[in-house]
Amino acid sequence: MCHDRAAGQEPRPDSGPAGPSRRAFSRMLMAGSGLAALAACAPETAPPPSSAASSATSTAAPAPSASLSPASPVSPAASSTAASAAAAPEPAPPATSTPAAPRHSLDDPASPWVVVNKHRPLAPSTFKPADLVTPAVRLAVAGEASLLNSTTAAAAEKMFAAAATAGVILTLASGYRSYVTQAATYNGYVKSRGQAAADTASARPGYSEHQTGWAFDIGDGSGADSFQPQFAQRPAAVWAQANAHLFGFVVRYPWMLHEITGYYYEPWHLRYIGPEAATEMKTRGIATLEEYFGLEAAPAYL
Ligand code: DAL
Ligand code: ZN
Repeated sequence: MCHDRAAGQEPRPDSGPAGPSRRAFSRMLMAGSGLAALAACAPETAPPPSSAASSATSTAAPAPSASLSPASPVSPAASSTAASAAAAPEPAPPATSTPAAPRHSLDDPASPWVVVNKHRPLAPSTFKPADLVTPAVRLAVAGEASLLNSTTAAAAEKMFAAAATAGVILTLASGYRSYVTQAATYNGYVKSRGQAAADTASARPGYSEHQTGWAFDIGDGSGADSFQPQFAQRPAAVWAQANAHLFGFVVRYPWMLHEITGYYYEPWHLRYIGPEAATEMKTRGIATLEEYFGLEAAPAYL
């Protein structure tokens, strides 16, 4: 087991792959890509953030123009693969009619349907939500990281309350991150793991959903396994996987779909898109926003 975290340092948000199953998967991947060192020493926690700010990644291509309505049905094969890989329920047959979800921009970072990935940076890159608030939920963080946009905060309050009623305690482990904070976080990963590994776990500044206010990371009331792959087995993650859609959230980076999303499994990272859309994704067995909205896969930066 490799330990790259200095004694006394707390795990950081959005840690990368670890644990037996993840390691096995990483070995399989890396065998063909010359990154055996990464697989052999998959960090268990994210590194401490660097205090230095990163230069902006202005080399990425601008976001492509996008449709304002969800894609026509994904192929059954793709749905099946996604659903089984993410341990989701059996996929339903593809929808044959236009989804009932409201229409929103896929490009505007203030839109609940904005899609941010390695091909689609925030525009503007330094976007800051105008309505950041601290939700009335159990907080595992303070300050900037406790903030969400007001819509996400309201939905989170309902979801956390429902979970508590079911006997499951969720915590807010990491919410809003400014461009500057994301730069420091990403640079910390690069310093600890190198850029290739960092890019599987942390978004470059200007490319993180956390900067939109629409996403946050959850923890378990026990405090155990935060930002670790085994968090998926904690009650908070199990409950969220089964129920988050009812409150408008999706698990944004599902198991084994990094070739679409660009990131390894993050069972803690929830993204608000609204209850109708999230429920439709669940019902149709669509696991990623890229597939739901008919956008290209974004495994790497352009
Ligand atoms: N860990 C996710 C990808 C982020 O840094 O936004
Ligand atoms: Zn996250």
